[in-house]
Amino acid sequence: MVCLDLNPAVIAHLRNLPLPYVIQLPRDESASWTPEAVAYWRNFGGLIGSDVPPLAVPAKLRGLALRAVAVAARHCESLEALDLNIVTQTLEGAAFDLIVATNILVYYSRFEQAIAMAGIARLMSPGAVFIANHALPAQRPAALEYLGRRSVSYSAQGAYGDEVVVYRRK
Ligand SMILES: C[S@@+](CC[C@H](N)C(=O)[O-])C[C@H]1O[C@@H](n2cnc3c(N)ncnc32)[C@H](O)[C@@H]1O
Repeated sequence: MVCLDLNPAVIAHLRNLPLPYVIQLPRDESASWTPEAVAYWRNFGGLIGSDVPPLAVPAKLRGLALRAVAVAARHCESLEALDLNIVTQTLEGAAFDLIVATNILVYYSRFEQAIAMAGIARLMSPGAVFIANHALPAQRPAALEYLGRRSVSYSAQGAYGDEVVVYRRK
């Protein structure tokens, strides 16, 4: 697994993960998550690690549920972090089977998103899948086939959610 990011602090962190690498997973119990979202939170990380005791929740943070997962060392050690701006740079020789970009392209203009999509298409092998969590420009590179989108709601009233969009490299 390769993580591409332009932030030197993120890259430095990923290249020097403290082991065991423990992820703290807070959940605001008053946020009206759907049962499916709560079940996702309860099981998150189960495929790559195991539950460990979470940090103590400060008394004033009432209603905060916390669980923690220690990621198995082999997954931490197989992670590669590369310094790359997905809007302005590309990676020669890359052929990823899956690219996931959540909460990244949303910060850019439609023009920059379209440029990033062209770069992402170049990083993919034929048949590879690209997933983002918000709508992207319709003017996509010809090499990317739009497979569809799905609205995912995490709260009963739909206050939180994602628009998951999926593309396939032709
Ligand atoms: C809000 S975080 C999202 C992190 C994670 N994907 C998630 O969904 O929780 C945005 C990350 O994208 C990185 N980022 C922003 N613009 C980028 C770009 N043009 N190329 C590569 N990484 C970028 C930031 O440095 C930051 O680490």
